[in-house]
Parts: sequence; C-alpha cells; structure tokens
Amino acid sequence: QKILSLGVLGAAMIAGSANAEVRDIRIGVDVPYEPMEFRTPDGELTGFDIELGDALCAEIGIQCEWVVQGWDGIIPGLQARKYDAIMSSMTINDQRREQVLFSDPYFTPPSAWFAPMDAEIGTPSDESLDGTTIGVQRGTLQDNYVTDMYGDVADVSRYATADDMVLDMDAGRLDIVFLDFPVGKSTLLDSQAGEYKVVGEMITEPKEYFGDGFGIAFRQRDEELAAAFNEALAALKDNGTYDEIYAEYFGE
Ligand code: ARG
Repeated sequence: QKILSLGVLGAAMIAGSANAEVRDIRIGVDVPYEPMEFRTPDGELTGFDIELGDALCAEIGIQCEWVVQGWDGIIPGLQARKYDAIMSSMTINDQRREQVLFSDPYFTPPSAWFAPMDAEIGTPSDESLDGTTIGVQRGTLQDNYVTDMYGDVADVSRYATADDMVLDMDAGRLDIVFLDFPVGKSTLLDSQAGEYKVVGEMITEPKEYFGDGFGIAFRQRDEELAAAFNEALAALKDNGTYDEIYAEYFGE
C-alpha cells in the first residue's frame, strides 16, 4: 500500500517537474531581418521566427514575450538575463557553442551574394572583389567570413542592422552585399524586382563559418528549457504546423 502510494506520488512529481522547470520566458530578437523577424506597418512583430517561436511556446504551454535587442549585444543580453532565449536567425556554430546552448536547428538556409543588376562582378573571388565595397551586418557569420576571406582586397562596410545595409545598397554606396539568402531574397529580389541579382553560388561551406542551421540559443545551464523547445519543435514538425508556417514565408 505504502509503496503504491509512493509510486503514484513519485510519478506525479516527475510529471510535474518537467513543467515546473519550464516557465514563461522572454526571447531576444534583432529586427528588422525580413522575412525572419520584422514589424508590420502597425509595429507588431512578425516573421518566420516570430510565428514559429510563438507556436513553440504554445506547444510547450508557456507565455513568451519578445524583447528587441541589437544584434551586436544579443549574446551579452542573454548572459545578462535581459531575456532567456535568442531566436533571431542565429546560426549554430562552434564559436557560439562556447557561449550558448543551442536547440536543434529549425531552418538551414545558405548565404548568398547580392549585387545591383548591372554590376559586372563575376563569381566572388580575390580578383572579382578586388577594390569593391562589400556590405555585411556587423557581428554576423557573414561579417566574419567576408572579413577573413576578402578583408585584404576589399573594403568591408559593417552595418548595425540589415536594413541600414539595404538602404546604403539602394543609395549606391555598396558594390555587393553578403547575407542569409532568404533575407536578401526578400529585401533585394522580391521587394525590388529587377534591381538586384544573386552573384555566384549559394554558400554553405566551410562549416566553421556557415555552421549547422539556425538554432534557438539558451544559457548553457538551461538544459531543460532547450529540451522543451526541441521536443516542441519535433511535435510541430510532426503535426504540420511547422510546414504551414514555412509555406507562409518560403512557399511550398
Ligand atoms: N545567420 C547569421 C548569423 O548567425 C545572421 C543572423 C542575423 N540575424 C538578425 N536577426 N539580424 O550570424
């Protein structure tokens, strides 16, 4: 009798403890990074990350509040507990794994080069980029890659936001930009049809830079929280919610 009731109590404690570990959280995000995270004309946050993040929180059964934070300080803000997670198109790579704990990847797009339609720049190389001005968002893997690969032959212009970079590109101050493909597609190809083109191949290597897809970042010790998000991600992939959100932003 005693053993049975302890067993029931124990089971209840275990069932309860999974939820007790995972509370309502705040999630840091850098905007605009269309179509991943941006504001509607009325100022509401939306985008693939925002919708997927909200769906993950609903699946876990917690409330999540988005906190807007510049990309430059986005990992320090997590460590300083301004928020408990980062969901901001952050690529999982070894350098960042030393600082944060990542969820499983939820999206794995390539990077790509974009230039004005009439630009005469061949496939990016030391020669074709010699003397050009290249735009990147400061502190991104694209910044690291371009700086290391072409910093000696080209001028690298670093922007606080992807938007500032696009504005300078539109103003003719940049020869070429390098960024996550879906963001260049949305902000340069789709919304300014005929003005810009992709130059060269989609870039996914080397892995030291281009990593293993976008992940949600947590503080190293928040293993239960990361596990809850991984479980929820698997559930949304199984039940079709992930595909629905994906189709809304990237087509079928
Ligand atoms: N995926 C790139 C990286 O992790 C850029 C992400 C920038 N994200 C943003 N919301 N601005 O370095």
